Parts: sequence; structure tokens; C-alpha cells
Amino acid sequence: MARPASFSCTACGAQHAKWSGRCDACGEWNSIVQDAGLAPGPAGRSLGARRGHAIALSDLDSDERPPPRTASGMEEFDRVLGGGLVRSSAILVGGDPGIGKSTLLLQAAARFAHAGLKTLYVSGEEASAQIRMRARRLGLADAPVKLASATDLRDILTTLEAERPDLVVIDSIQTMWADNVDSAPGSVSQVRAGAHELTALAKRSGLSVVLVGHVTKEGQIAGPRVVEHMVDTVLYFEGERGHQFRILRSVKNRFGPADEIGVFEMTGAGLAEVPNPSALFLGERTQPSPGSVVFAGIEGTRPLLVELQALVAPSPHSQPRRSVVGWDGGRLAMILAVLEARCAIPFAGLDVYLNVAGGLKIGEPAADLAVAAALLSAREDVALPAETVIFGEISLSGALRPAPQTENRLKEARKLGFTAAIAPAGGKAVAGGGLKLMQLADLTGFVGEIFGAG
Ligand code: TYD
Ligand code: MG
Repeated sequence: MARPASFSCTACGAQHAKWSGRCDACGEWNSIVQDAGLAPGPAGRSLGARRGHAIALSDLDSDERPPPRTASGMEEFDRVLGGGLVRSSAILVGGDPGIGKSTLLLQAAARFAHAGLKTLYVSGEEASAQIRMRARRLGLADAPVKLASATDLRDILTTLEAERPDLVVIDSIQTMWADNVDSAPGSVSQVRAGAHELTALAKRSGLSVVLVGHVTKEGQIAGPRVVEHMVDTVLYFEGERGHQFRILRSVKNRFGPADEIGVFEMTGAGLAEVPNPSALFLGERTQPSPGSVVFAGIEGTRPLLVELQALVAPSPHSQPRRSVVGWDGGRLAMILAVLEARCAIPFAGLDVYLNVAGGLKIGEPAADLAVAAALLSAREDVALPAETVIFGEISLSGALRPAPQTENRLKEARKLGFTAAIAPAGGKAVAGGGLKLMQLADLTGFVGEIFGAG
């Protein structure tokens, strides 16, 4: 019997019975493609025909020890993993082409190999000679990593079963090809089949698998999204072209906290760890100037000070511009509305630009007050007090809500030589250590304190 055609979304992997212009699972446009017939395996038979075995059940409570971990010694990488590489785990590292995934993973592979793991690096994108050249450039030529240039999944699985390594890096999952799946490498079915085989091998053999996945907005290539639910850990490697900073961010981790970040700098000799990112992100700051504010943020478990810059100028357009880099545009609109409604400070007829320095992306609501401060400072053309950090969430009523980990933020500010902090009232904050703390209950109070009557 011919199987009915099936379609899947290249953005989220949802399956559909028929083609449509928009995926109703994730809302993406033009992302639905026809699956080229998956070879009907034994799974194609009806389940009703044969009875299965009863599954052994166990208790929730057991004295099993946590899974063993191996640290690479690259602290920024280990922390994002939750303290090192877990045996038998599957990890996806996604990112834009050219952002530095291969470089990062070759460096990490070398570290893990030195730490005693039998490590294999399989590239479907580059010849072994090319990888060796890169290794030499990175000063890793003596690392006991085994290389292979291959794309045939069957060959790779056979090799892994024979070699029994502790860690394998597959660069990239989009170049891998399974001969039982009748579609081109990079298609949804191929990516899904490859990731499934490799993660299944990891679970049954104690091998840890790192899959590299390119994120592409358009085109036939399946995004790493289809793999996300199959793996234990999803890391994204991000950065702006033209900035040397790279951020490794965990968005899912079965073995550690999500939202943890590791900061790296791309140099001529590969990726260098940045143990004190605040100093780096504030490095370009000069004298206090209107529109510039230092936000005391938290990324994962770590405090991070960053500079926010705003520019407010009369608009020549009938629709004034609202432009944001590194923060959420909707959230900016909300702050502007609260300033207008609660503090009677209008931004109508004014263009507003907001930028997070250094190419960092901030998602924390605690940046609200720092954004409001930058906007007001730019609008009034008044620089904020020097050496001051600001943080706090703003509610629609204009009230300031305490931010989590207040003490951590203040500690980081103190460490970097800041002498004052402005924060919401009510947070568990202790001043001292040369840091003057001003706690405010609402936005109106803030405007009054910092900009006079407002
Ligand atoms: P790569 O790791 O190949 O990116 P990806 O695997 O994510 O596609 O890195 C590509 C870029 O990194 C390339 O443009 C050159 C730059 N680079 C350096 O700046 N320094 C280095 O030491 C290396 C190896 C690469
Ligand atoms: Mg690469």
C-alpha cells in the first residue's frame, strides 16, 4: 500500500498531512516541505498485531549517584554544560555559519582528549588536512584527537561501535547522510534520522555525542530545531559579525541550569575564554555621557555589567523611528508608554534608538529601569551620575519590582569599582563596601531623584 505523502516544517519539525504556506505549529512562513518517503521499517507495521513485553517499573526514590562528568578545563565551556561533559549525553551546538562552532569544538575536543577522554572529531564539511591545519594554527596539533572526514552515517556508526570513543563531535549534522532515508543531506528527514541514530547510540553505549547544527533562516537546510527535543542539552553559539565576542548559551540542559552563558573572544589563535566579561563589555566606555547607562544584569548564574546606549532626537518622519539592537522592541515600546502615561514624559515626534554595547543580547526584565534611565538621560541631554549601575523591572503601573539576585549584581558592581547603585525598593540588598545604594519604589520617584522634577 502506498504511504500517503507527509510534510514537515523545517523550522519546528511539526508534521502535516498536506502542504500549506504557513506552519500552524510554529507560525513560520514557507517552511513546510514534503518528506521524501522514509523507508518503511518494522515500525510501519500495526502495533495491534503482536503483544509487547511488560516493562520493569522502578521507584522515584533511589540511591543512584549523579552521572559522571568530565571537565575540559575550559571553564566557560564546562559551566555552560552544568559542570562538565556528562557520560552518555547528546549535545546540540547550534549557530550561524561562520560564527566559530568548528573552532570552539575542536578546541574543546582537544581539552577533553587531554583530560583523558578518547575523542573523535568527524567532519562532513572539511577535509582532515584542513582540520589539521586549523589545529596547528590553534596550537592543538599534539592533542590526542582522532580525525575523520566522513558523511555516511552507516560508516560512522560502524566506526564508533568498533572504536568505542568516549566523545564524538559530528560537524555538522546537516552534512550527514543515511542511505535508508531517501532524501538529500540537510533535509528534515535526514537530519532527524542522523540525530536519532547518534543519540540512540549515545544512550546505549556510554558515548557522549556533540552535534553541530547550522541555523539558517531560509533555504532547504533543516534548522537544528528538529533535533532540539532529541538531545539532552541545547547550546547556541551567538555573536555579532564585526564584534569579537562570542557567547555560548544553554537553552536546554537536562544535566544543569539552562540560561547559563560562557563568554569567549575570537582571536587570531582561536577562541579565548573571557573570565571577567563585565570588564570586557564595559571596556569601550569613556566619560559619562547623555544616554549611556550601566546595567547590572545576570546571565545564568553570573552577574554581567553592560552599557546601554540611547539616542533620542526630533524625528523628521511622520512615524518616528523606534530602533533596538540587543533588546526586545516590544519591551521598549512598553517602557516608552509607561514613561508617557505614568510620568507624563512624551516621546511623540522623537526618534528613539537603543543599543546594547558589545553585541550582547539581553532578555532580562530587570533591564527596564536601566533602559528608562538611558532614554530619559538621552531625551534630557543630561548624563547620569558617574560610576553608577542601575537595574529593576518596571510594571505597567510604573512601580519598580525587585530583581532577583540583587546582592550578586551589587557585588559585581563593587568589584568593578562602581560607587553607586540605583535599584527597586524591597530587594534583599545590602549596601556597603564603598557602594552607595539608592532604593526607589516607582518610576516617578526615579525621575524626581535623578532628573529633578521630571
Ligand atoms: P568556524 O569555526 O569555521 O565557524 P563555523 O564552524 O561556525 O562555521 O570559524 C569561522 C570563522 O572564525 C572564520 O571566519 C575565521 C574565524 N577564525 C578566527 O578568527 N581565528 C581562528 O583562530 C580561527 C580558527 C577562525
Ligand atoms: Mg564549521
